[in-house]
Amino acid sequence: MEIQNNQLHLGGLSAEALRTNFGSPLYVYEEDSLRSQCRRLLKCFDELHQQQRLQLHFAMKANSNPSILKILRQEGAWIDAVSPYEVQLALDCGYRPEQILFTGNNTAPEELDFCVENGVPLNIGSLLTLEHFGKHYSGQNISLRVNPGVGAGHHAHCITGGPRSKFGIYHDQLEQAQELAQRHSLRIVGIQSHIGTGIFAPEPMLEAMEMILVLAEHFTELEFIDFGGGFGIPYRPEQQEMDVNALGQQMTERFEKFCKEYGRPLSMKLEPGRYLVGPAGFLLLSVTNRKHTPEYQFVGTDSGFHHLVRPTMYGSYHRIWNASRMEDELETVAVVGNVCETGDFFSVDQGNIQRDLPKTTVGDCLVIADAGAYGFSMSSQYNSRPRPAEVLVKDGQAQLIRRAERYTDLLRTTQELD
Ligand code: LLP
Repeated sequence: MEIQNNQLHLGGLSAEALRTNFGSPLYVYEEDSLRSQCRRLLKCFDELHQQQRLQLHFAMKANSNPSILKILRQEGAWIDAVSPYEVQLALDCGYRPEQILFTGNNTAPEELDFCVENGVPLNIGSLLTLEHFGKHYSGQNISLRVNPGVGAGHHAHCITGGPRSKFGIYHDQLEQAQELAQRHSLRIVGIQSHIGTGIFAPEPMLEAMEMILVLAEHFTELEFIDFGGGFGIPYRPEQQEMDVNALGQQMTERFEKFCKEYGRPLSMKLEPGRYLVGPAGFLLLSVTNRKHTPEYQFVGTDSGFHHLVRPTMYGSYHRIWNASRMEDELETVAVVGNVCETGDFFSVDQGNIQRDLPKTTVGDCLVIADAGAYGFSMSSQYNSRPRPAEVLVKDGQAQLIRRAERYTDLLRTTQELD
């Protein structure tokens, strides 16, 4: 993004022009950013990547627009999928079955069948699922999702390791898992763990890595170890980027040491979601209203938590710009949406819902940053409001990659009453 003549530009186009051409609200993605985030992360693990011992499995739950999936495939990403339709979509976008790793949770038998029929490798995270799988698919290769007993994340709901998390086989039950696998002639070729999301410091990732490596020693047929996703991005203006390069170095060194002791050059898998797509995405919206109470100056908009739920759901901070007047004098306002709920705030900041924004009038175009991950993919039609369009921008060109929904889309799956 850049500022020209007091206006915000994305991919070489002014936000206002994008709004004129594609309507509001609108998701906008910068293609260059998608590609560069992917290249950056691969570079951090270059040593392993050069030896084809690193696979970045994009966690497509963060953003499953087919055009974005295709761009990331061009950049060498593979896929972390969590549902049969994610698998189907990845296959339809050209990913080969062996490039997809299915990590379900509370996985239904039909989901296992679907993956096996399509040749997609499975990562199994419960003893019962493992037993069921073994009975039906004896002789297969599998990997195990392990809960190493530690977790981290930007919000309690986003911590996926530790005794309060439903994910993975708890580390003290791994012997049972091995017995089950043996009984059904399953080969455990991988160990996976994902301790949480929005992690902004290397320590929890390295700590979890240590614990996983200790567990991995007990498995003799491993081909890979998968350390999951979780790489955080800076959402706040004052936040420095996490030094992923240093983290990559540290993880690689530790991994190579392990492989030496293990006696084989294993592959490392990672499952980044947010890091690859978060910074590339922007939610563009329009100011429809102004009002004030004794406490707040409200700026009302034509979008809401049905389009970007992170501020409401986790209290997550996202930068907000007045794209129509980037450098004008500031005022303190609460930016809210058009959903009929009081918690429909965009300008959340740890309990404070007001922030400084260049003076806003009705008709201004606002842009919410870092909305590329868990933005559109978590959107809904709540209040019977359709989802917005998505546009990809690059070098002053914009391409519609998903049209906005219409009234008929809201009714597409309903049955008419007599
Ligand atoms: N692998 C597994 C097994 C996961 O469950 C997830 C995310 C990832 C990888 C990718 O994590 P990432 O690299 O994006 O941190 N809705 C929340 C995030 C939920 C993430 C769920 N699992 C948010 O908006 O912050």
